[in-house]
Amino acid sequence: MIILAIETSCDETSAAIIEDGKIVLSNIVVTQMDIHKEFGGVVPEIASRHHVTSITKVIDKAIETADIEISKIDLVAVTNAPGLIGALLVGINAAKAFAFSHNIPILGINHIKGHIYANQIEDEMIFPLIALVVSGGHTELVLMEGHNRFEMIGCTQDDAVGEAYDKVARVLGLSYPGGPLVDKLSKIGEETYKLPRSYLKKDEFNFSFSGLKSSVINLIHNHNQRNEEIRINDVCRSFQESVSDVLVQKTMMAAERFNVKQIIVAGGVAANSGLRTKMNENKKHYELVFPNIKYCTDNATMIGIAAYYQYQDLKMYDKMDLNGKPYSELGRK
Ligand code: KG4
Ligand code: ZN
Repeated sequence: MIILAIETSCDETSAAIIEDGKIVLSNIVVTQMDIHKEFGGVVPEIASRHHVTSITKVIDKAIETADIEISKIDLVAVTNAPGLIGALLVGINAAKAFAFSHNIPILGINHIKGHIYANQIEDEMIFPLIALVVSGGHTELVLMEGHNRFEMIGCTQDDAVGEAYDKVARVLGLSYPGGPLVDKLSKIGEETYKLPRSYLKKDEFNFSFSGLKSSVINLIHNHNQRNEEIRINDVCRSFQESVSDVLVQKTMMAAERFNVKQIIVAGGVAANSGLRTKMNENKKHYELVFPNIKYCTDNATMIGIAAYYQYQDLKMYDKMDLNGKPYSELGRK
């Protein structure tokens, strides 16, 4: 089964060709990161406009790189939720136009499902598993008892982890997206600032990161008011230690409670070095999988892989009235 996958939910325009849910024939990603940098975050309208100018070229390039005939494509898969609505609609309409003109079925895919399936690109998911989803918009613990079966057992009550990283970076004067920079600086810093760990109730799976974020902001303001120099590397390290302690503790607790075989980590923050190290140190007997760094942030390959397993499970396509949704729960249990 050959799938053309399209992803435009935020600030990456991406298209990929995937064979049989495993072989990546092409994965083209055009990022707008530098364009949004000067605004300190993604500007939705600007993102949509850039998707419009890139999308056709990106799809053409994916087909050319894969070196396949269009007639060999069995399915067009496209991210339809959640995400920036204008950005999503560019990908959806490009997918519809392509599918309609070549008489190929279309399938809408949940973006978070895609992030989870980034773990199936170079590894095999083994069930039951716990997925820790950590991105710019999501922080969730998801139990999976088989392909395409998702049960959300915990989520953030306020900020997503990536969002907290980006906000902390901004108050430290670092550019957007701050997550990778905070990660980089934390490697040369030490945990010299005492920051809280927000476990909420120790025995539940929900998260909260806004208190930690406020602690960092207060720390910086207090230093500024006293005219004291703040050690940025140490703030980054202290913040990273606090975040990863909580993520690891809750994930391990969920793995034990649901007696899983595997733990997988998904989303942009899965690229974080502190989280990778701490997960490895605490993984006990569980098999631990992280996606390749290049598949942690948004890409169409993960959408193509998720589409393959969704189709194998449900054997259903979408119709041409497929629409985008800014918010969406993960599929069915
Ligand atoms: O999954 P993603 O590409 O987009 C969303 O679906 O949100 O994730 C982007 C987020 C940003 O908040 C970015 O700062 C964060 O992932 N991120 C990181 C790292 N790399 C990306 N956060 C911490 N450490 C990293 N190495
Ligand atoms: Zn994403």
